[in-house]
Amino acid sequence: MASTPTLAEIVAAVGREMEPHRGEGHVADYIPALARVDARRFGLAVITCEGETAEYGDAWVPFSIQSISKVFTLTMALERVGDALWTRVGREPSGSRFNSIVQLEAEHGVPRNPLINAGAIVVTDAVLAGRRPDEAVADIRDSLRALADNEAIDVDKEVAQSEAATGFRNFSLGYFMRGFGNLQCPVEDVLSTYFQQCSLRITCRQLARAGLFLASAGTDPLNGRAVATPEHARRINAIMMTCGHYDASGDFAFKVGLPGKSGVGGGILTIVPGKAAVAVWSPGLNEVGNSQVGTLALERLSQMAGWSVF
Ligand code: DON
Repeated sequence: MASTPTLAEIVAAVGREMEPHRGEGHVADYIPALARVDARRFGLAVITCEGETAEYGDAWVPFSIQSISKVFTLTMALERVGDALWTRVGREPSGSRFNSIVQLEAEHGVPRNPLINAGAIVVTDAVLAGRRPDEAVADIRDSLRALADNEAIDVDKEVAQSEAATGFRNFSLGYFMRGFGNLQCPVEDVLSTYFQQCSLRITCRQLARAGLFLASAGTDPLNGRAVATPEHARRINAIMMTCGHYDASGDFAFKVGLPGKSGVGGGILTIVPGKAAVAVWSPGLNEVGNSQVGTLALERLSQMAGWSVF
């Protein structure tokens, strides 16, 4: 009888399977500075709650975190304002694109969930309240550095400026919600903070490490630090599962069966509750705006490791 493959063997097998797929999908070009990324990049990193790691390909190459940052600002906002956040943002899948405005009018400026752009802008407002944008950005960056155990993580100013220069839809969402009284801070300050959080550069290795607390009831299993309450960690995982891939969240649950959050930089953070955190990066996106090869890699990894929660 064949022995059970090790984590390293599974990650290597997934990586090899992805080689012919390198370059598939379309690199996001609505943020001009993102369009220059090499579409053939592929990185995969896994870290377990015991500290075992396995990597493949470009796992040490920094990329733009984009919407995956929403998971970390949600964590910070929940620790800051607690359940009061849920009066300002819902927790239902939107079934719409990540930057859609259609539901906001009928639903009185309360976004469906914290992982679509509108919801994330409200969450950033909660993280920003009472301080300047540069202070909030430094706090978000430092939180990520502490979680990833890496001081090199920083904002890519060029990407942030590119987003600010072209982020008309996000400004529209911000002003619309301000009109409903659902933003406390000036829209320009909230958006400046939001664009910078999305422009943080991180590697798969760092991202998996940073997400590990979510696999371990909110407490970092490697250093014992309480990052989120167990209840908050459970809820963040639930929202990642139901809303982390926008209108493809059902498909991600179907194929991968794990909480995950994608970004238009081509990264995906995935949590294996009680076991591990996984980060994958492949810049080409599918039509919904999620990494095409990244999703395929996670589907195969989840199958081979038997990690689906279902
Ligand atoms: O606000 C935006 O449009 C980008 N900074 C982030 C969008 C994003 O990553 C959507 N994810 N798939």
